[in-house]
Amino acid sequence: MKAVVYTEYGPAEVLHLQDIPKPTPGDKEILVRVHATAVNYGDLTARNFANLTTDEFNMPALLFFPARMAFGWTTPRRTILGSELAGEVEAVGAAVTKFQPGDQVFAYVGMKMGACAEYLCIPETGMVALKPANFTYAEAATLPYGAIMASSLLRRADIQPGWKVLINGASGGIGSMAVQLARHLGAEVTGVCGTPRLEFVRSLGANNVVDYSREDFARNGETYDLIFDVLGKGSFSRFRQSLSPNGVYLMASFKAKAVFQAVWTTVTRSPQRVICALAAESVRDLVVVKDLAEAGQITTTIDRSFPLEQTAEAHRYVEAGDRRGPVVVTIGDEAGR
Ligand SMILES: NC(=O)c1ccc[n+]([C@@H]2O[C@H](COP(=O)([O-])OP(=O)(O)OC[C@H]3O[C@@H](n4cnc5c(N)ncnc54)[C@H](OP(=O)(O)O)[C@@H]3O)[C@@H](O)[C@H]2O)c1
Repeated sequence: MKAVVYTEYGPAEVLHLQDIPKPTPGDKEILVRVHATAVNYGDLTARNFANLTTDEFNMPALLFFPARMAFGWTTPRRTILGSELAGEVEAVGAAVTKFQPGDQVFAYVGMKMGACAEYLCIPETGMVALKPANFTYAEAATLPYGAIMASSLLRRADIQPGWKVLINGASGGIGSMAVQLARHLGAEVTGVCGTPRLEFVRSLGANNVVDYSREDFARNGETYDLIFDVLGKGSFSRFRQSLSPNGVYLMASFKAKAVFQAVWTTVTRSPQRVICALAAESVRDLVVVKDLAEAGQITTTIDRSFPLEQTAEAHRYVEAGDRRGPVVVTIGDEAGR
């Protein structure tokens, strides 16, 4: 089968199309013929992990070394990128009961990656579910990572109808799903993103958008019941005045100082709280997002699709920063169905 392989860390040029053996599913695995995979934060980070500094690693430095060991210290352990995908089940292992050949699925495979290939085996108990029937494979491939991360993290904040919620990083994988889930929960949502993606964030249903390159939302006098900081670009001290008296500052990316603040605001029962959390991965969140998508409450608008052999070009395009929405790599002719 064809796959895009990388055996050294570095720029997009390290990605090469190769022929490799087609995998065979184990007893409890499904073999998925991949039709599309989204190019997301995880792909870009994994491709260049050895060149990442502890500062660029948006998590506590203590986690940097185990993460680098897991990715591979000098060369990548997993040589095929792609953590989220949509495709069709081609075969199932002898003990599989949940899926059958022909099922159209979407999935998140996390750090195991491997979706930048024609075929991939996934445990039937993994983060895999039937894809939204009204979404093409390419559209469905943009959802799983954000669905799982945003659902899990937003649950920590317990959004109530009528809350004013700000998503700092609303145009990315996690933020674009967070905007839509918060709207679904009845919040008034402000999305913060870069200039090229303002229209995309509006199209997701954000009530207001802020361009971080032109305006600092922390200085405009507005207050929010929840600020969800996806990249951890701010800090509690900087955003505190933008939180309502009982406001929550939720961070998907955080350093050790923020963890102390989270503990401190909990122990002291401070009305304004900091929450730093690692997402708990649950396939239920994928199923909920499928149902919301089919009910017309979750949408996506792909900016550009690249065929598998142009995966490096897709990475360059995303890294150039001009994309207006999600970017996908398609495999074969069926991604648009
Ligand atoms: N806690 C967890 O369990 C967990 C799980 C997965 C990932 N993460 C963390 O989540 C982060 C990746 O999130 P993602 O996949 O959504 O990334 P992404 O797709 O790259 O999106 C990043 C978002 O941040 C925005 N942004 C960039 N610079 C900004 C600035 N100066 N101010 C405000 N917003 C800015 C981007 O806006 P534009 O693109 O419009 O410029 C975009 O909306 C990583 O730090 C990762 O470590 C945490």
